[in-house]
Amino acid sequence: MLLLKKIFTSSVGRKSLMAITGLALIGFLLGHLAGNLLIFKGQDAMNSYAENLQSLGALLWVVRGGLLTIFAIHVGLGLLLTLENKRARPVAYQYSSTIQASLASRSMYITGILILAFIIMHLAHFTLGLVQPEFYHNVDADGRHDVYNMVVLGFQNPLFAGAYIFFIASLALHLSHGLPSLFQSIGWNSPRFNDIFHRVGVTVALLLLIGYSSIPLACWLGYVRVH
Ligand code: HEM
Repeated sequence: MLLLKKIFTSSVGRKSLMAITGLALIGFLLGHLAGNLLIFKGQDAMNSYAENLQSLGALLWVVRGGLLTIFAIHVGLGLLLTLENKRARPVAYQYSSTIQASLASRSMYITGILILAFIIMHLAHFTLGLVQPEFYHNVDADGRHDVYNMVVLGFQNPLFAGAYIFFIASLALHLSHGLPSLFQSIGWNSPRFNDIFHRVGVTVALLLLIGYSSIPLACWLGYVRVH
């Protein structure tokens, strides 16, 4: 308990926790993308993957709880760090200083809020079936939840495909700055390292952007069709 209090109250502890939770979330994003890309393999591959996940039962709830806790810590600390920075510098930088910061670094707070809004919308959409409920309740020929057709039908609507691509682009912008910052905040901060981490951040962000947006795009353009 004392250790936890120490971690949360010291600046180094908070930054390290922000970095560890950020890396864990990127791990989730890569895993979730690998699962979702099964849509290109077809209905059977996607629906059996979804069923295998559901069959984890209680373990799935433990993983979901862990993910939610990690996400809450990351968002909470992000807000706290932003507030602290604002308090330390109540008057905003003049234009001349601001232009030196990249678009991604200046927009971390806004892209963070967009990601939060996306996750709420996304859970209501594909996990709870509250958005587009007409596509949520179908089962395939083997009686499994028809996740494949739910996703394809959902993204045939250009509004949904466009909204997902917009939110995924915000996520990529957030990560392209967030990932290199994570390494800097745990002390790996030298011009050579910073350059490498910047490249890693941009590469991972681009990979996620291309991978995730390919799904709504392929469904919308009719490359992946209803089965
Ligand atoms: C084209 C992009 C995406 C597709 C097609 C997609 C698809 C899905 C589907 C089908 C589910 C429900 C799984 C099920 O209950 O069987 C789901 C759950 C989820 N997705 Fe996504 N997703 C996408 C992008 C994202 C992104 C970018 C994030 C994070 C920022 C994300 C976070 C989540 C979370 C946290 C869950 C809940 C996991 C759970 O219930 O265990 N997804 N997604």
